Amino acid sequence: MKKDFAILGIESTCDETSAALLVDGKKLVSNVIYSQIEEHKKYHGVVPELASRAHAAKIATVIDEALAGRDIDCVAFARGPGLPGGLMVGRVAAQTLANFKKVPILGVNHLEGHLFACEFEDGEVKNPLTFPLVALIVSGGHTELWHVKNYGQYKVLGRTRDDAAGEAFDKVAKLLGLAYPGGPQVSAQALQGRRDAVDFPRPLLPGTWDFSFSGIKTAVSYYLRDHQHISVPDVCASFEQAVCETLVKKTMLAAEKYKVKHIAVGGGVAANSLLRQMMVDEGQKRGIAVHFVPRKMSSDNAAMIALAAYKQLQHAGPGAFEKKWNININPNLQVKNWGK
Ligand code: KG4
Ligand code: ZN
Repeated sequence: MKKDFAILGIESTCDETSAALLVDGKKLVSNVIYSQIEEHKKYHGVVPELASRAHAAKIATVIDEALAGRDIDCVAFARGPGLPGGLMVGRVAAQTLANFKKVPILGVNHLEGHLFACEFEDGEVKNPLTFPLVALIVSGGHTELWHVKNYGQYKVLGRTRDDAAGEAFDKVAKLLGLAYPGGPQVSAQALQGRRDAVDFPRPLLPGTWDFSFSGIKTAVSYYLRDHQHISVPDVCASFEQAVCETLVKKTMLAAEKYKVKHIAVGGGVAANSLLRQMMVDEGQKRGIAVHFVPRKMSSDNAAMIALAAYKQLQHAGPGAFEKKWNININPNLQVKNWGK
């Protein structure tokens, strides 16, 4: 790749419209994020139609700001998984720009972006991931556990069977009358509460690497139904403890089973302080290094898409720069499995 190779990344899978410029796969020149929280707040969750409209309204401005008049060598966009309307907006924007600039275009897996976001520090790629590792991608739309043998060699061990962990935080926040998005709200309340106040279930689903969080959420709703005087901080602290224990336990078990010495945690819920602390503590006990995404890069952003695209180019060899402008979106895109 030529010196100062510049990738423009585009992210529009859910409720953030974002564009970022990454130079030489290292230096983050810009990472412009327009969050749609205000649009979705009163519904306590993402409304797909509103999200598509907001992406369409904002994408040109966000790209223009991220480019700041600079030249680019490649355009990358998140082609899935995500909401179809948002993905289409990202795709059309990326194709139009790539065609106009006569540069190649790459489609990136959004979840792979969350994994590589762990490499950023202070606007630069400073902490390369060490393989093999176990990855936990935990956000509002996804909760997945992967065994990553090497770059691009994934095995999805398990995923949530119902709610994603972040979704459970959002739903519990709604039950408690807290604002959207619920994760930071629940977490802030939990600081004042007792983590052993209520014994919510820890659904470990033995024999599988899958997760299930709707049961904890239902347990919270039954608790609220059956108790007149409740302490919001206690419920938040006990709920957070149950979710984090489940995530940490399964991730550690997977790391031990697959004999890896590194764990990477990405996605919006990776901003959670309790999760960070518990995972690092448990890792230390086992001699496993835990790599968390920096808080600032944990939620959806285009910098992680640009970085995942750079990795793709690095590993693709000749042919990667073939100009093809017709990359399809895939709302259910999954990372490629390297084996059984
Ligand atoms: O990665 P992200 O921005 O979007 C998706 O790809 O889903 O994740 C957003 C999710 C929301 O559900 C939000 O409540 C959750 O991440 N979240 C948190 C925290 N900060 C954000 N959950 C728990 N604790 C937090 N501190
Ligand atoms: Zn995401």
